[in-house]
Amino acid sequence: MAAVRDRKSGGPGKEPIAVLGMGHVGLPTALGFAELGWQVLGADDMVEKIDHLKTGKATFYEPDMQELLTKHLASGRFQPTKDVDAAVAAARVVFVCVGTPQRENGAADLSQIESVARTIARNLNGYKLVVEKSTVPASTAERIKRTIGRYARTETPANGTNGRRAAGKESGARFDVASNPEFLQEGKAIHNFFHPERIVIGVESDQARQLLEDIYRPLKCPIVVTDLATSELIKHSANAFLSTKISFINMISDICDAVGADVASVARGIGLDPRIGHQFLSAGIGFGGYCFPKDLKALLYLAEEHGVPGGILRAVEDVNLRRIEVFMDKLRHALWVLQGKKIAVLGLAFKPLTDDIRESPALRVVEELLKEGAAVRLYDPEAMPAAQQVYPEAPGRVDYCRSAYEAARGAHAVVITTEWEEFRKLNWKKMQEAMEVPVLVDGRNLLDPSAMREAGFEYFSMGRGSRQVAMTASAK
Ligand code: UGA
Repeated sequence: MAAVRDRKSGGPGKEPIAVLGMGHVGLPTALGFAELGWQVLGADDMVEKIDHLKTGKATFYEPDMQELLTKHLASGRFQPTKDVDAAVAAARVVFVCVGTPQRENGAADLSQIESVARTIARNLNGYKLVVEKSTVPASTAERIKRTIGRYARTETPANGTNGRRAAGKESGARFDVASNPEFLQEGKAIHNFFHPERIVIGVESDQARQLLEDIYRPLKCPIVVTDLATSELIKHSANAFLSTKISFINMISDICDAVGADVASVARGIGLDPRIGHQFLSAGIGFGGYCFPKDLKALLYLAEEHGVPGGILRAVEDVNLRRIEVFMDKLRHALWVLQGKKIAVLGLAFKPLTDDIRESPALRVVEELLKEGAAVRLYDPEAMPAAQQVYPEAPGRVDYCRSAYEAARGAHAVVITTEWEEFRKLNWKKMQEAMEVPVLVDGRNLLDPSAMREAGFEYFSMGRGSRQVAMTASAK
């Protein structure tokens, strides 16, 4: 973690930094700024969220976050507030971290961004730098500019505004809009904040650039300075490219299953080429979460809206949607009939180290199992409270268990749907003893196939020749 600097003056200049939106982006970002030494107002109009934070408890699980929250509530450098207007009025730099969910047609729903722009316009009491951090389609910053200009003018009629510079409540109030996309990964958000590979800033003035460079100065990494639309597009392109890598390796994984090859070795073999790289080449049940599926759709929508064929992005999405079917086929192949079987599902979060279940492939597996009449015994180290909201406990059909061992009790198969480290370290012999039938379907390629087979499991995984091996074994 970066060393704490004691900047008695607060944010750059005398004012605090305002972070609007205390969700998965806003809260780690606000706490990160506080740790860098800035005075931060964390604003959200969801009263319960702010009340929760004020009691000193993090609103969601993220490694190291609770520690930072406790530290900076105590240091006074992080102040949660439900008064968004007052936070904007007090700050010179305002980071916009509100949600940009998906509309039915795939486009991003920017209503929260628009609402924040109007709030900023209402409170334009001096120069402000408005920094768009939420993931948004290219050209959103232009719309934010237009909205602030328009509403600021409405609040205080004609005061010699010219485009970007709008008249606010006070004479001469000006603003800049900048784009500064976040690249935080859930489960590593705090680490990512302090160790970024790059910081991207899209700016239109030296003042905006200077302010952002000052804020981030303690973090040592390249800063990419661009115009607004380019910066916005960098974020969408990064997520789309990473999703593409995952779908690519997943397609290769299916070919590996068909020809008896090993996808992990293929990934290693291609990943050693630095032009390809090792990361994001883990085959499995596909990508989920609040970002990849939604951002892919939004970029596809943007492309097609502008007449650019989005074929490659559509293919990435199609491959991803098919992953659950591929996984279910393996389970059906192993158990023949799923109706009436007990399946232990290990992992509900969309990935490890988070309690986030949004767009989780694991939950899609649960849904399929229930549709086929199987009973599910669920375990996840962090995500069970969230999952219970979607699939309430129904004894004998949906059971939440206190451990993986409890989930395995009487199960006809164990499936791994999230690659928590805890599952790798399980005593698999003990797991097997608790099960009715020793079938293990590893949707995340977490375990070593030969070790599992030696331990007596019928073990299936994704693209590691498991189907052939199992078929050969059962033919003997
Ligand atoms: C992603 C990006 O990685 C971040 O850089 C970005 O800031 C963030 O979206 C965002 O836009 O806010 P995140 O959604 O937290 O971060 O999670 P990832 O670690 O990227 O994983 C996404 C999904 O891909 C997970 O379901 C994961 O299991 C899956 N995945 C990842 C694979 O199936 N295979 C891989 O090799 C890697």
